[in-house]
Amino acid sequence: MRIIVGITGGIAAYKAPELVRLLVKAGHEVRCAATPHALEFVTRTTLETVSANPLYCDLFRGNATETEHISLKDWGEMLVIAPATANIIGKMASGIADEPLSTLLLAMPPQRVLMAPAMNSQMWAHPAVQRNLATLRTWGVRTIGPDDGDLACGSSGTGRMAQPEAIARQVASLLQQPHPLQGERWLVTAGPTYERIDSVRFIGNYSSGKMGFALAEALAEAGADVELVAGPSALRTAHPRIHRTDVESARQMYTAATEAFPACRGAILSAAVADYRPETCADHKLKKQGDQGLTLSLVQNPDILATLGTMKQAGQVLVGFALETDNELQNAESKLHRKNLDYIVMNSLRDTSAGFGVDTNKVTLLAADGQRTATPLLSKQEVARIIVETVTRHKE
Ligand code: C5P
Repeated sequence: MRIIVGITGGIAAYKAPELVRLLVKAGHEVRCAATPHALEFVTRTTLETVSANPLYCDLFRGNATETEHISLKDWGEMLVIAPATANIIGKMASGIADEPLSTLLLAMPPQRVLMAPAMNSQMWAHPAVQRNLATLRTWGVRTIGPDDGDLACGSSGTGRMAQPEAIARQVASLLQQPHPLQGERWLVTAGPTYERIDSVRFIGNYSSGKMGFALAEALAEAGADVELVAGPSALRTAHPRIHRTDVESARQMYTAATEAFPACRGAILSAAVADYRPETCADHKLKKQGDQGLTLSLVQNPDILATLGTMKQAGQVLVGFALETDNELQNAESKLHRKNLDYIVMNSLRDTSAGFGVDTNKVTLLAADGQRTATPLLSKQEVARIIVETVTRHKE
């Protein structure tokens, strides 16, 4: 394939030659395009050497009859911007073309663009950047990262460019992407639920939603239309094939999930649903009563997974999660059968890098037919891909 790597002026530009090298090694023909600022961080010689092609960095270098941004756009099957600064994201969202790369971006169909944003975490969190990215995504631009970690400015947070290996893998999957799940609808539940105590307090848990959102992304990447029912979570959804419904409580999640399930080929329920909720919810803030304690009376929430297990029709696939602290395999297996599941994903809590909040996970996937797949500690994205590959291959 013919890939253009666009480089903008952020410190992560020093990783761009490595990305180019990986893409060349994977058999792609690569040409680089750089903004003037990018060349403060990485040299023309480096980019031309690793790509074995001339660099596009000057709107007016060619002869008057050649419009290089147009010929380059016809040449490239994909444009990967790595790193993508807040500036190039903003320029593309606004249609500004004031240097070679933004001009090329305006000529290129957005569906052929993959961006790997990299910036300081406060810049990343700025509403302008998030609004601009949301705009680009609605046009079909794909994004990867940024990752969490130490940043060049000395702070740490979200903003590091995704690793070149991860970007190269994403390019490979986008280019040859078979869409085995095209035409299939899948339901995913994700995140925690909040059970209200009064107008300002709730019972919740530490689930971040990262695993469920990664599952929704992996299903959408495989071509499925995804109904994502999400409990309270700060995470954003990127993929145009993900339809997200935000809920707060277990009962709201129950309603959304049971409504969506009949039209779905399958469901993966990864949400950490509260088993109990306060029997009553005060419509005002409860006041401290002298030095007395407070007793909350709790009632059981409906079990969404078990309900879908009773609704399941032939051909539908149902996948649950099990977070166990003791007798893990035995408990997971009994849940698999009790709730009429096809698979259960057992989270290991023995490893500090797996489970709630973190970016990695380590799971064992148990199938109703007795098959077991254990993963090593991987990113939640990788774990999601393995789960999706396994459960979507399921045949009656
Ligand atoms: O029985 P347990 O709560 O351990 O089962 C966990 C699995 O059940 C997870 O897949 C979770 O999403 C789902 N669940 C549910 N509704 C509940 C409780 C758990 O869907 N009320």
